[in-house]
Amino acid sequence: MASGLPVFYVRPRSTAVKVGIIGYGNMASAMLNGLLAHGTLSPSDVIVSSRTLSRMAPLVERWPEVEITTDNGLAARTSDLLFICVRSEQVPAVMNEVRPSLSPSGHLVLINGGVSISDIDSAAPVSKVIPSITAEVGRGVTLVHHRDDVGPEERGRLEDLFSSIGQVRVVDEGRLDAGTCLTSCGPAFIATIIEHFARSAEGRGYTYDEALVMLTETVLATASMVGTGRSPSSICGAVATEGGITEKGLEVMRRDLPALFDEVMDVVLGEHVRTGRALRGDR
Ligand SMILES: NC(=O)c1ccc[n+]([C@@H]2O[C@H](COP(=O)([O-])OP(=O)(O)OC[C@H]3O[C@@H](n4cnc5c(N)ncnc54)[C@H](OP(=O)(O)O)[C@@H]3O)[C@@H](O)[C@H]2O)c1
Repeated sequence: MASGLPVFYVRPRSTAVKVGIIGYGNMASAMLNGLLAHGTLSPSDVIVSSRTLSRMAPLVERWPEVEITTDNGLAARTSDLLFICVRSEQVPAVMNEVRPSLSPSGHLVLINGGVSISDIDSAAPVSKVIPSITAEVGRGVTLVHHRDDVGPEERGRLEDLFSSIGQVRVVDEGRLDAGTCLTSCGPAFIATIIEHFARSAEGRGYTYDEALVMLTETVLATASMVGTGRSPSSICGAVATEGGITEKGLEVMRRDLPALFDEVMDVVLGEHVRTGRALRGDR
């Protein structure tokens, strides 16, 4: 890239599959730290290239063996599996930069909701991965879609990688957007519900922080019940006795929530349509 900043080598390339990441922002950080913390990737097999060196400082502090650079071409040339983790509108410029370095035997991965695989001119096979910020804690769902030219070995390798930090769901490209709303935007929506619920207890005998702790444990426990097979309606049925206080609260939620979540989904998907197919906007 044209920044003129120095290129740092922390360690020479090992013989294992080299994983390159271009753009070290929120998502790359959550994804990479999750994969390194779970031992799925070895730090010495990772090269990260990003525009601002200082943003990678916490990465090298935690994982000194990770190679960092500001040279996107170097990351592309030396990677077998290359993740493009810049924002959607930055993808065309980065693609122009790395395209000459992509080997047909490599594997390119996009993580942008706003970029279609068909918009990418790449000699290397391309997959799309929609990770979730929840990768940071080794949980959540990663959505994956492969272009036809991705071979079975590369498919398996990519899916295995993300299986170590949550569930992987392989879907058609047409189902990615609605799925993204659930799994990738979802953490922000769930966090907002937690926040507003906790705020409602403020001034009613609890501080926000106390309410947040109580509610977080309740959310984790409830999710765990649903996750082990208890349906949401059976939990509601078990808590809400007829005419009781929970039932009154549920009446309010059942009145307002269906329309609210329909609107959230509409806005998220509509935003994509509104701003065009190629660059439909980031979360
Ligand atoms: N956040 C999520 O939960 C989430 C989930 C799934 C998918 N995604 C997708 O992931 C993509 C990135 O999102 P984000 O939240 O991680 O964005 P972000 O925090 O802005 O990260 C983008 C990174 O790319 C770097 N960059 C920009 N142009 C570059 C270039 N030409 N060469 C090298 N590095 C460059 C930026 O450098 P600077 O530090 O200099 O700005 C920044 O560090 C988006 O398309 C988003 O839709 C995000």
